[in-house]
Amino acid sequence: MGNKTTFAHTHIRLLFIHFMQEKILIIGATGQIGTELFVTLQKKFGTDNVIGSDIRTPNNPVFETGIFETLDILDTEKLDEIVTKYQITQVYLLAALLSATAEKRPEFAWRLNMDSLFNVLNLARDKKIRQVFWPSSIAVFGPNSPKENTPQDTVMQPTTVYGISKLAGEQWCQYYHKTYGVDVRSIRYPGLIGYKSEPGGGTTDYAVDIFHKAKANEDYTCFLDKDRGLPMMYMPDAIRATIELMNAPADNIRIRTSYNLGGISFTPSEIYNEIKKHYTDFKIKYEIDFRDEIAQSWPSSIKDNKAQRDWNWKMEFDLPTMVKDMLKHIKTHP
Ligand code: NAD
Ligand code: SER
Repeated sequence: MGNKTTFAHTHIRLLFIHFMQEKILIIGATGQIGTELFVTLQKKFGTDNVIGSDIRTPNNPVFETGIFETLDILDTEKLDEIVTKYQITQVYLLAALLSATAEKRPEFAWRLNMDSLFNVLNLARDKKIRQVFWPSSIAVFGPNSPKENTPQDTVMQPTTVYGISKLAGEQWCQYYHKTYGVDVRSIRYPGLIGYKSEPGGGTTDYAVDIFHKAKANEDYTCFLDKDRGLPMMYMPDAIRATIELMNAPADNIRIRTSYNLGGISFTPSEIYNEIKKHYTDFKIKYEIDFRDEIAQSWPSSIKDNKAQRDWNWKMEFDLPTMVKDMLKHIKTHP
């Protein structure tokens, strides 16, 4: 009798695990966030259950282990084919043009950033996938938003193509959730800083470039004003936030546009001074370009009390601990 019960329990548990097994597709996987997310999700769900995809062929060794598919997210037939082939349950949609690149190709940026989202949301609406992660950005705010401690809900009048696409995308996420019950979740990432992958054309890229220069014992020329404060976050915190949000019970997710995440707020001169504590000969000069105007339109610090309330968000890295860890791990450019 005891053995029979144990057998039945085991059988039910295995069936449960089978049905709960996530099959994850990352779109835009070879980018700054995708590369790190790919590795972390592989560790959590198993190498065979995470499918990386991108329009680019990967050149980072992390993609040598696991499954990778070449995909242009605007190709809906190929997207459908991959979702069916691997029985995908979750999609992390990371393909986009970022703020600085988008200003150079505004119409294409709008098309890529919006159509990619529709293509994935429609899969969820049609019940072909169960859950979607799509990142928004601090770029949804504009010059009329409060600059310091910017709250979740406030004036949002972005002045960049990128910001306009992110704000529109947030509203579509909420619409698909309310109208079709789509489980789509989102974070307004601050500028992200990591050492495992390169940033892809954003205004906050300076905060990664500066580490490469310091490590190579070269001077750094910064394209932002020395006092331009921006919210930033260390990649391990950002990846953890993403996975914690995706794992939170659906009932806790009260915001279906996108959650503010605060991160660490600093200026170029503040991060320079922190790096200089480790590299005392390190020098910086400033040659401001169009990206400073973009940065000027964004908040310098963000209030994330709603993320704390709904899914217990807590950041770990501050400026000194992030700088120390970056300098320990970052490799110089070849
Ligand atoms: P990234 O530019 O490094 O990566 C984007 C990836 O998308 C690239 O690998 C690119 O090849 C791929 N891609 C472009 N067009 C594609 C297409 N048609 N089909 C498939 N793939 C395509 O960007 P990231 O920094 O990793 O950002 C990922 C997402 O997070 C974006 O939506 C971005 O707006 C958002 N975000 C990033 C930051 C940040 O600081 N990195 C901050 C806020 C929001
Ligand atoms: N880091 C991004 C950018 O600078 C902000 O979303 O474009």
